[in-house]
Amino acid sequence: MAEPAKGRADRGRPARGGGGLGGADRRRSWPRRGRQDHGSSRAGAAGARPTRPREQPGRADEGGSSRRRGRPGRSRLAAGAAGAGLAGSGGSRRYGALLGCLVVAVIIGVVVIFCHFRRRKYKIESSKKDIEVAEASVEYEELTCKQMSIKEIYNATENLRLSNIIGQGVAGKVYKGMLANGWSVAVKHIIKNEHAETFLREVTSLSHVRHPNLVSLRGYCDGQDECFLVYELCVNGNLSEWLFGKDKNLSWIQRLQIALGSACGLWFLHIYPEGCIVHRDIKPTNILLGVDMEPKLADFGLSRCMDIGVSHVSSEVRGTFGYVDPEYRHNHRVHAAGDVYSFGMVLLQLLSGKRAINIQNTTKPISLDKMASMLIREGNVLEFADPRLNGEYSEEAFDLSLKLALSCTGHKQQRPSMEQVVSRLEKALEISMGDDDKRNTISFVDSFA
Ligand SMILES: Nc1ncnc2c1ncn2[C@@H]1O[C@H](COP(=O)(O)OP(=O)(O)O)[C@@H](O)[C@H]1O
Ligand SMILES: [Mg+2]
Repeated sequence: MAEPAKGRADRGRPARGGGGLGGADRRRSWPRRGRQDHGSSRAGAAGARPTRPREQPGRADEGGSSRRRGRPGRSRLAAGAAGAGLAGSGGSRRYGALLGCLVVAVIIGVVVIFCHFRRRKYKIESSKKDIEVAEASVEYEELTCKQMSIKEIYNATENLRLSNIIGQGVAGKVYKGMLANGWSVAVKHIIKNEHAETFLREVTSLSHVRHPNLVSLRGYCDGQDECFLVYELCVNGNLSEWLFGKDKNLSWIQRLQIALGSACGLWFLHIYPEGCIVHRDIKPTNILLGVDMEPKLADFGLSRCMDIGVSHVSSEVRGTFGYVDPEYRHNHRVHAAGDVYSFGMVLLQLLSGKRAINIQNTTKPISLDKMASMLIREGNVLEFADPRLNGEYSEEAFDLSLKLALSCTGHKQQRPSMEQVVSRLEKALEISMGDDDKRNTISFVDSFA
């Protein structure tokens, strides 16, 4: 009868395996132990009932039946001893005893079947509860970012194995790895310098900021000369690889979906209840792609919390060349509109498949927004489209997205908010989906013609 309780404890273990995460274990243990106690007391209460009928009826019936059968049994022996002369009355007594046995056997059978179904029902109910508890634990773990030991980091990355390197950033190498609880992660290795402490503080302080379009921080490790940041792994790499990689390509719909998801992530940061969070480094290598190509914004190391609409003067210009708002470059005022500018540049790249800064016929580099404006002025809008799209896109949605991108890279006062960006991209996606459906219907009809 201890079986259901044992089942619960076993199933709880993998979730606790993330238990390398110290404090989470202690906190998690309360609801689980609470539920387990509750469960086992239930098991005791519910278990007592099936136990009794299962074991005791047997004994009770044996005793009972032997008691009840006692007399006929003895009579039968006596009848046997009395000889054949009493055969007629002995036969009817034997028939009565047989009937009695049959009745008792039927009763035992009914009780056993009843107990079996009760146990099954109880088991199903308790395993449903186990799943709920395990899910709650996973959700809880997913919401926490914990300090990890160097040993855990080395175990996860197979001692920082070279073949596990998936990226190289300014701060250091990025390794793929797996935590003891089975989670796939990306581990960023940062060699410590004088900025490392501030960087780590800034990053971990934002670890509670969670959204499906933001890469979540699972843990960190602060060693002596090095530190590690452990993120959820985005298996499809970064957007830059997809835009410029040789054997990768994105369809028009995928491009719009990536733009829309990224815009949602940024909108979420800008309206964060505790104060607007400015990303400050929106660029294709910081837009990572999950298993279904869903976009997730990475790197909040450069983020700063501030009141929405209020700008703050930063001592240094941060961000990546080509994506930094020219106004911010001049006045060092950090503002959400700076992210809108960078987003506009990324959107232009999604439309054109071109670099943020290009060298055209002239030797003078030209930024992508200037190139787009020039083509529009010349009436060559569609020349801007990425040739790798093979013309498979909605012209109306393309036009709408291009105008949106240019409004993002325009003067700060005229830039849309991320909320407006989201709604216009939704419109572009809706138009494109409609066009796609029409195209599919036509080709379907054509196939019958
Ligand atoms: N969570 C992650 N999942 C998958 N790949 C990642 C992740 N984090 C980083 N990377 C990869 O490592 C690369 C380097 O990351 P990073 O250090 O942030 O530098 P940067 O943003 O300058 O490229 C990224 O461009 C990306 O390809
Ligand atoms: Mg990055």
